[in-house]
Amino acid sequence: MHPALARLAERLARVPALGAAELEAEHVAVLGRKSGELTALLKSLATLPLEDRKAVGAEANRLRADFEAAFERRKAALAAEAGRAAWRGVDLTMPGRGRWTGSRHPVTLVLDEVTAIFRGLGFVRATGPEAESEWLNFLALNFPADHPAMDMHDTLYLGGDAGPEGRMLLRTHTSPVQVRVLREGALPVRVIIPGTVYRKDPFDASHAPVFTQVEGLAVDEGISFVDLKATLAHFARALFGGDTAVRFRPSYFPFTEPSAEMDVSCRICGGNGCAACKGSGWMEILGCGMVHPTVLANCGIDPERYTGFAFGMGPERIAMNRFGIPDIRQLYDGDMRFLGQFG
Ligand code: DAH
Repeated sequence: MHPALARLAERLARVPALGAAELEAEHVAVLGRKSGELTALLKSLATLPLEDRKAVGAEANRLRADFEAAFERRKAALAAEAGRAAWRGVDLTMPGRGRWTGSRHPVTLVLDEVTAIFRGLGFVRATGPEAESEWLNFLALNFPADHPAMDMHDTLYLGGDAGPEGRMLLRTHTSPVQVRVLREGALPVRVIIPGTVYRKDPFDASHAPVFTQVEGLAVDEGISFVDLKATLAHFARALFGGDTAVRFRPSYFPFTEPSAEMDVSCRICGGNGCAACKGSGWMEILGCGMVHPTVLANCGIDPERYTGFAFGMGPERIAMNRFGIPDIRQLYDGDMRFLGQFG
């Protein structure tokens, strides 16, 4: 037997014990194109005496196939071992982190729904600035300058000189946008006005110094309280469900006459009385009324010819009722574990 064949057979037997680096080196040492021992043997076949050539050639080719198979097998075994090592120390029972996906804020969800319902009734969106004058926020809306109604709002004034329309302040409600829209003079008007408002309130379970309102306004010839009731009852059923009952209670706002508050049957107990509705079976949802003639006149509109209705609501309150959120601060603490639950 050719001496190289014996040596190569021994090397073949050792392949299954080689490490990754050794395996690389052995591959070169045996099958390398330039210096491989088996390659050299195969190249030298032509120089062998004819009677050896056949037997040695057959054996050398078999060895080559065996080496190739042995290297492949060892390589796969080492890769599998490395894979297992990478998982060592990993706790597969640990809860996963989940993929982060954004979600809409509960107040945004309510705002979007409210504006969509009114859009379906032909209302268009209007907005105004958060810094307003005393005239737009109060006086044009028929708040007398010395009237206790002004105390309904604890106002954040911005400082600086008073302009022709009084001091500047952070708007305490979205109602000044009514004045802005009406002053433009394009009638009829049907607008829905979402926006941020500010009050000098404590930040507690039911108050926030910064919160949201949605205002609505419709002004045209021949608008009556019937239009107000039908529109807002439709809205309540669209938002809370077709079986929702509504009731209107007399109220007071300087900018509407008559004024009312609308309640809907409690969505939690269905009207039987529970902790959420304080046993009454009703939830207050919005303030509303017929636009006060003085407000129309303040905006250059003839109150003899035109009438209208207005309403205002707080989406925070609606979101809290809808989702059973007990504390308004939860909406503004920015805890994503909480806020991510609503959609
Ligand atoms: N602006 C009122 C507030 O902040 C809410 C309101 C009540 C708006 C009645 C209206 C309305 O347009 O008609 O408390």
